[in-house]
Amino acid sequence: MSVHKEVKKVTTHQLQEMKRRGEKISMLTAYDYTMAKIIDHAGIDVILVGDSASNVMAGHETTLPITLDQMIYHASSVVRAVDRALVVVDLPFGSYQGNSKEALTSAIKIMKESGGHAVKLEGGREIKDSIERILSAGIPVMGHLGLTPQSIYKFGTYTVRAKEEEEAKRLLEDAKILEESGCFALVLEKIPAKLAEQVAKSITIPVIGIGAGGGVDGQVLVTHDMLGMTHEFSPRFLRRYLSLYESMSNAFQQYIKDVKSKDFPNDQEQY
Ligand code: KIV
Repeated sequence: MSVHKEVKKVTTHQLQEMKRRGEKISMLTAYDYTMAKIIDHAGIDVILVGDSASNVMAGHETTLPITLDQMIYHASSVVRAVDRALVVVDLPFGSYQGNSKEALTSAIKIMKESGGHAVKLEGGREIKDSIERILSAGIPVMGHLGLTPQSIYKFGTYTVRAKEEEEAKRLLEDAKILEESGCFALVLEKIPAKLAEQVAKSITIPVIGIGAGGGVDGQVLVTHDMLGMTHEFSPRFLRRYLSLYESMSNAFQQYIKDVKSKDFPNDQEQY
């Protein structure tokens, strides 16, 4: 007889129920097995295998270079660690913008080869056909509006989006289009808090914010930022829960000192 207790997995429907109940949704990024295991056991609702892996894990300046196969490598490592959270995987730049058939092929490859539970795409009305085609294959889709880093060369900077009326109006319309297309949730990145709250109130699907204030249905942060590992990155919206850069650097320096001074290993640390 099995003694394993069944873990109740988070589903897209539960996230929508949480919005209805007014319970906030927690989401963090992960790109590897060890980090994903800690985050999942802590009780997170959603793990995002973000294309921010391009910056955080590979050291690229933007999210553009990461490939579909690299996203699958990260996502499959995360999926192996997770018992409870919903795992959402970013479709990387260049894997869905061509046409809806290409988008579906990329989404299917991610789902088949990584075991992820949903995909995330950046954009509004211009990717409506792709979202609908992916959904027609039974793959849940999360939208992403506001500052969409895959379009950084169009924007020119990483500053707050939709401060002007025209862009705010278009964003509100796009959020409605994504809801009508069947997205189960929407990420809003770096837009005014008032506008984000207005979006969250105008649609029934959960809105998860990053730099979008507290009036939305949940929050997401890049894990390496909230742990203080990326100490040179300090946007106003970021709350740091640890200063891991300093702690890790101290530990590495102590280790180097101990090796050089022959303090490590001692008699108890050998066979
Ligand atoms: O790639 C990512 O980490 C993201 C979050 C910032 C929402 O898309």
